[in-house]
Amino acid sequence: DKGGWSSFMAKEINDQPDAVANTIRGRLHDGQVEIPELTALGDEVLRNIDRIIIIACGTASYAGMTGTYAIEQWARVPVEVQLSHEFRYRDPVLTDRTLLISVSQSGETMDTLMAVKYAVERGVKTISVCNTQSATIPRESHAAVYTHAGPEVAVASTKAYVAQITALYLIGLHIARVRGTMSAEETQQAAHQLDELPEKFREAVATHEQVAQLAHWMADTRSVLFLGRHVGYPTALEGALKLKEIAYIHAEGFAAGELKHGPIALIDHGQPVFVIVPSPRTAPIMHSKVVSNIQEIRARGARVIAIVEVGDTSVLPYADDVIRLPLADALFEPLLQVVPLQWFALELSTAKGLDVDQPRNLAKSVTVE
Ligand code: M6R
Repeated sequence: DKGGWSSFMAKEINDQPDAVANTIRGRLHDGQVEIPELTALGDEVLRNIDRIIIIACGTASYAGMTGTYAIEQWARVPVEVQLSHEFRYRDPVLTDRTLLISVSQSGETMDTLMAVKYAVERGVKTISVCNTQSATIPRESHAAVYTHAGPEVAVASTKAYVAQITALYLIGLHIARVRGTMSAEETQQAAHQLDELPEKFREAVATHEQVAQLAHWMADTRSVLFLGRHVGYPTALEGALKLKEIAYIHAEGFAAGELKHGPIALIDHGQPVFVIVPSPRTAPIMHSKVVSNIQEIRARGARVIAIVEVGDTSVLPYADDVIRLPLADALFEPLLQVVPLQWFALELSTAKGLDVDQPRNLAKSVTVE
């Protein structure tokens, strides 16, 4: 049931405040995160780890990338993401101090399942972040942290993505509590950010009308670029993937710092570029770097669409369009920043008369290697 929306994807974008609230429910008590499924795994396991590998494919891998920044910062363990289908072939170094976290909406993605089995066979502890109750991957793992985002029908993942990031953040905060790596103040601040997320998502979802207009004007666009730094980088990759999947246009996401190392040569008159701008309050250095990137591409003729936090006027002289989102701490911004990018892909796909929910050549879950 599309609940009155024109597509499942539209409904699912709109469902995100509830999806995220459901991921958090029962896991945040008195400002502390405790995930019962991880407590069952044993605190000793989490105290002992010296490395975390996140494995996933597609959108789930961008959720994983976003998670690396937060988990590493909070739990002080090195965290990396590997694509499931690359993982086994590199003969990875795995020890009894490695923790593997798989991320999969369906819990049936064959490449991810094979990577989990490979790790389990080598004695590695595995946690599954999954949206589908009793799917194969959580059953093959030592612990399952369900996202509880509700069934996702559209091929393009939206609510599962933000729920995956939220679940990874909860895992990071759980591990940080067990390892004692965060101050009381930091813990409190993170809990506060989690508490406020569903409400902020409501405001992010309300960017729909503005973004729909933008997409309408841009219906003939043949290529769109996305730039981001730090946690804005995976958001840029995700924004580009959404456009490829459902609007069938060339789209690429870049780390803003890479511009000068090649991609800036792509900037030509009228080239649309979405720029994900970090908060000037909580990430002032990154913010000023991204504003310089905007100046550089604008000077070469780019059409800049800036995604900023409300009140940030620094980009106004250089941006053609500005999309404003509620205030959030730097690590929590990507959860909100992806929402206008989801709307943009949906509206561009609609403007081109395409099937938003069932894009050509794609299946909801990829159960072959
Ligand atoms: O079910 P999974 O989360 O394991 O699926 C992984 C990818 O196939 C999936 O995220 C894909 O990239 C989506 N269609 C993205 O919208």
